[in-house]
Amino acid sequence: MSLFRTKNLDQMILDSQNNTSGLKRTLGPLDLTLLGIGAIVGTGIFVLTGTGALLAGPGLSLSFILAAVACGFAALCYAEFSSTVPVSGSIYTYSYATMGELVAWMIGWDLLLEYGLASSAVSVGWSGYFQSLLSGFGIHIPALLSAAPGSLPGVETWFNLPAFIILLVVTALLSIGVRESARANNIMVFIKLAVVVLFIVVGANHVQPANWKPFLPFGYQGVFNAAAIVFFAFIGFDAVTSAAEEVKRPARDLPIGIIASLTVCTILYVVVASIMTGIVPYEKFLGVDHPVSLALQYAGENWVAGFVDLGAIIGMTTVILVMTYGQTRILFAMSRDGLLPKKLSEVHPRFATPFFTTWLVGVVFALIAAVVPLGVLAELINIGTLMAFSLISAAVLIFRRTRPDIKRPFRCPGVPFVPLAAIFFCVFLMLHLQAVTWMAFGCWLLIGLAVYFGYARKHSLLHPK
Ligand code: ALA
Repeated sequence: MSLFRTKNLDQMILDSQNNTSGLKRTLGPLDLTLLGIGAIVGTGIFVLTGTGALLAGPGLSLSFILAAVACGFAALCYAEFSSTVPVSGSIYTYSYATMGELVAWMIGWDLLLEYGLASSAVSVGWSGYFQSLLSGFGIHIPALLSAAPGSLPGVETWFNLPAFIILLVVTALLSIGVRESARANNIMVFIKLAVVVLFIVVGANHVQPANWKPFLPFGYQGVFNAAAIVFFAFIGFDAVTSAAEEVKRPARDLPIGIIASLTVCTILYVVVASIMTGIVPYEKFLGVDHPVSLALQYAGENWVAGFVDLGAIIGMTTVILVMTYGQTRILFAMSRDGLLPKKLSEVHPRFATPFFTTWLVGVVFALIAAVVPLGVLAELINIGTLMAFSLISAAVLIFRRTRPDIKRPFRCPGVPFVPLAAIFFCVFLMLHLQAVTWMAFGCWLLIGLAVYFGYARKHSLLHPK
């Protein structure tokens, strides 16, 4: 039965009210919404839209709506938990209080994969736009250092140096403090939104409705396959919850942050996807790693394309920032519970950040960014995240039964239908990912089980001494 032992929820809520973690409470609702948008708008919209357009054709906008619906239902479940249990560690922590230690461990382990690989994946997307911008000035990075091995057909590549370096720069920023990082994040998010709006305003004039016909060249199957990929574009709103212990008024501000950031991004994505596929016939996106600026170049708007390149680079930097941040806070929470070594939850005396953990995560995932191609990373991240979303939605149902008494400042509407719909849509998207992705994910979960039984279970704070 020890596998199902749960943390004392009332104590957790009390601790969070008394702020026992040592982290500073500096963030408000606008910071959180920007943190959310900072995490969401990135490689998904700037790079993977090209891949999505090849799978779905102009119907890509429907793929974005489908992925948004799955996220929207899951977001409502998230919001209930994050307002009820406003502590660091996102759904890992919530499941520890509801579904027991083993499930919580597996979710935490799953999130480590999601956030860590997302930092790597977005660094790879960043690198693509960065090199495209440099080439505009006639500067070219040697091919060997431009991408991971096997990324470019027919070109020998060894190491993605720009991806490696950007992830280390972000690590340095995060390791010296959240207040500084949040401020830098806010400025960068405004720039990112500005270039997306610029694309919409300029691109709308170049749409040729003939490009939207046929609207579904690969039928609904194409729309579903693309949705399973562009789902990546929505990942990140959950990072808002991992900042819970640094929020001034978490019960009110966390749901606002989650729902506002997701809504803004959905609207932007659907509009961008429609305009992109309206400017360029979808077949032209084959092998393109900067589809958004390509659409503008195609329309003859080279200057605007240059600005979009720059904005995409800045935009993706914020995503790397938030993903790496989320990763460190989950490790922090798991270590604080004894499931991982204590060293990982040490707070730096001067910067008040988990300094050691931040650098550890930064270096490991910078190396992964340097040697693994983007397509492989994106599928793995999606399957891990969809799994986590299904579990959190199930947790809302369980928690309503086991603890009906507890105060929920935000209640997920339409229970049980909304959590059930979230589970349905997430599993549906998972089923549209490749078999090899399922196998890799299975291996990661098996390793997780081995670590749990080999280390975590015995070192857990809940283990009888
Ligand atoms: N949603 C994030 C992105 O698109 C992970 O880059």
